[in-house]
Amino acid sequence: MANVVLVTGGSGLVGKAIQHIIETEPEGSRFGKKTGEKWVFAKSSDGDLRDPEQTRKLYEKYKPTHVIHLAALVGGLFKNMKYKLTFLRENILINDNVLHASHTHKTQKLISCLSTCVFPDKVEYPLDENKIHSGPPHESNFGYAHAKRLVDVQNHAYKEEFGCNFTSAIPTNVFGPNDNFDLEDSHVIPGLIHKCYLAKKNNTPFIVSGTGKPLRQFIYSYDLAKLFIWQLREYDDVEPVILSVGEDEEVSIKEVADAIVKAVGFQGEYSFDTTRADGQFRKPASNKKLITLMGGFEFTPFEQALDTTVKWFLQNYDNARTGKK
Ligand SMILES: NC(=O)c1ccc[n+]([C@@H]2O[C@H](COP(=O)([O-])OP(=O)(O)OC[C@H]3O[C@@H](n4cnc5c(N)ncnc54)[C@H](OP(=O)(O)O)[C@@H]3O)[C@@H](O)[C@H]2O)c1
Repeated sequence: MANVVLVTGGSGLVGKAIQHIIETEPEGSRFGKKTGEKWVFAKSSDGDLRDPEQTRKLYEKYKPTHVIHLAALVGGLFKNMKYKLTFLRENILINDNVLHASHTHKTQKLISCLSTCVFPDKVEYPLDENKIHSGPPHESNFGYAHAKRLVDVQNHAYKEEFGCNFTSAIPTNVFGPNDNFDLEDSHVIPGLIHKCYLAKKNNTPFIVSGTGKPLRQFIYSYDLAKLFIWQLREYDDVEPVILSVGEDEEVSIKEVADAIVKAVGFQGEYSFDTTRADGQFRKPASNKKLITLMGGFEFTPFEQALDTTVKWFLQNYDNARTGKK
């Protein structure tokens, strides 16, 4: 029987990127589809994964041999702080249902998606795969972080008790086409792209919160998609892998904003509101394990990836997630 790969959260930023790569890389290549393989990209209307019955039905319908589990209740800082219990409970439900269904349906392999937000607040940098449980997460997202950490705990327990081939991936900040560009509740890149677009359209200043100095590692969703496909094909261990650009590829918020200004073609007044909080200066994560195991990977240059993302946003403004509808 041919393999069936189910991607939960298939309609989101990362899910759509995996779909793009699977549909465009040559069949049989390292990041391409295998001959006869079927890929299913599930959205919440295909089955609400908070519900065990709907999860079971989804698995019964598609009988996945492999699962990339991306579905999650995600949100920006404000939402995370306001709805801690909701983030904790809904993500625990989604993850428990997916892991349990993968076990009962004898799925050969499951990769679940964590996030660098799960790491302890007080920790020695760079972050690496061994530090997930070595202290409490930042209190702003403790619901989301604890729910995600529990996936790693469950993966180990499923392996020890039932021999399941379950593992997890830890991406850093993702951006790309199909992101959530909502002004109130988005990550830094899509939020700034939307803000800059409106500044150009309305002929108003483009004001970036904070000093612009903090550094972050951003991964382009199409690169991340290839790394997930690599992990699916070539990595068989329960321990998580950080999927990220290198520590030496950190980008400052100013560099992000400069690149957005250029890509949008904004020529108006552009400044930084230094009265607004910056957040942590940097929180570098090591991609050494990934690169050693893969034997190298060519990431898309940041400016090029950003330019493609901005172009996508401009071309798809009416249908993009902008919070306006
Ligand atoms: N974006 C980042 O910077 C980032 C960084 C690190 C890790 N991650 C992780 O990457 C994964 C994917 O994130 P993303 O940015 O692609 O998120 P996203 O664009 O917001 O997509 C979320 C996906 O989850 C699905 N979903 C949400 N609740 C569901 C439910 N109850 N039942 C079934 N499906 C449900 C959504 O389906 P609908 O479209 O139908 O609602 C959507 O497909 C998440 O696990 C996230 O924690 C993201």
